[in-house]
Amino acid sequence: MAALILFGGGGDLAMRMLLPSLYFLEHDGLLPEGLKIIGAARSEESADDYIAKVHEAVKARAEADKVWNEASWSRMKARLDYLAVDATSPESLKPLKDKVGDGEVTSFLAVSPSLYARIVTAMKAAGLAEKNCRIVLEKPVGRDLKSFLEIDDAVAHAFSENQVFRIDHYLGKETVQNLIALRFGNTIFEPLWNNLSIDHVQITIGETVGVGDRWPYYDEYGALRDMLQNHMLQLLCLVAMEPPSDLDPDSVRNEKVKVLRSLRPVTVDEVERVTVRGQYVAGVSEGKPAKGYDEERGQPSDTETFVAVRADIDNWRWAGVPFFMRTGKRLPEKRTEIVIQFKPVPHSIFDRDDRGEVQANRMIIELQPEEDISLTVMNKRPGLDQRMQLQPIKMSLSWGVPNSGDGKSAAPPRRRIAYERLLLDAMAGDSTLFVRRDEAEQAWKWVDEVSEAWAESGLKPDDYVAGTWGPDSADMLMARTGRDWNTTD
Ligand code: BG6
Repeated sequence: MAALILFGGGGDLAMRMLLPSLYFLEHDGLLPEGLKIIGAARSEESADDYIAKVHEAVKARAEADKVWNEASWSRMKARLDYLAVDATSPESLKPLKDKVGDGEVTSFLAVSPSLYARIVTAMKAAGLAEKNCRIVLEKPVGRDLKSFLEIDDAVAHAFSENQVFRIDHYLGKETVQNLIALRFGNTIFEPLWNNLSIDHVQITIGETVGVGDRWPYYDEYGALRDMLQNHMLQLLCLVAMEPPSDLDPDSVRNEKVKVLRSLRPVTVDEVERVTVRGQYVAGVSEGKPAKGYDEERGQPSDTETFVAVRADIDNWRWAGVPFFMRTGKRLPEKRTEIVIQFKPVPHSIFDRDDRGEVQANRMIIELQPEEDISLTVMNKRPGLDQRMQLQPIKMSLSWGVPNSGDGKSAAPPRRRIAYERLLLDAMAGDSTLFVRRDEAEQAWKWVDEVSEAWAESGLKPDDYVAGTWGPDSADMLMARTGRDWNTTD
């Protein structure tokens, strides 16, 4: 019998993401046969009470996605169980070990990372770290390189690297994987994917939500550690990496590590030119008044809720191509996109547009709110203009719209939760879409340099009004180089 143990099985991540993901997999018949799903948490409650809570959470989500089905739920319910445990105590974990027996066990730590080291040590003592066991670690693992290594050393003491699955849920998103398909399943883009044709790359992860009740966690991490160290650098790696020789975990991750190693360190002399910190003050978000971060927190803080960085990758392919990244809370849109801005034609025979510019090709890889990859190409504006006029046309390159592919309209598949793919892969032992130790290490190293440069230079967050695209300094970061952020209007 195979088992999936959800430590923190009654918590927010489990109820909002993991259990609904498992329901959807169940619904599609994708869960391994005989798999048991065991919630494990501190709360002394019966399995029936736990299952009732799971039912409520899963049903709400599945109904919203219009895939609620009693038969699927009955099958999932038959797999579910619960055990109250103190996961840091080997004694307390013994009954859990007895429950799962000697089959394959995947344990997901959806608990505070400050407990990771103690939990894995207890798991080893309780026989839950045997060769047929795997461990899935939710981010953030550590808050800097030093604390990452401390936790990861404890993990390495209990599990070997091929048993460890460090989650970055962005890698489970369909369009992120489609980026790999686009780059390495086609010949037409690769010759252009370098500094001869690309002017710059922009990565934006905008969120409308504020920090709210999460501030005790957030205040310690800030946007740099919460989003840039992981999600944004992972996206950057997938855009920038060399073609791997295979899709196996090591080939892909070797290439990503090379990118991270090539990131130019941010020095204290450069930090004000290449980075921006921001913090939202009261404003209007999605039509409603929104508090400032300091008010949510109850007192002033220097934590950034917005970060923008210009990253340079010092290698042959990307020399001279800046990668601009920005992310923040309380921005005007929930929007995640990667923009590949190509260079303009070397000599234009056409008139400039209303802004006095010759437009260049632009590829937009949109992850949220829609999942789509599009390419802007120049067309002749139809009509009898004396001088030929150009207009940009957006071509969609992905499944999200009718008439892509074979020309037939087809309803796009349901948008999956990123954890669906990742849970399946972890249970199957495929770590291609997970973060290897040396990757996390390099990402922390670079991020530590940024935060040390901030501390040394005394760079504090600039205010921005909730509901706007960050502080003016973020626009200046681009404007100084003669560029601007992509806008949707
Ligand atoms: C998490 C961060 O990793 O990602 C959150 O801790 C953030 O602060 C979330 O809101 C964003 O994920 P998504 O998939 O909604 O873009």
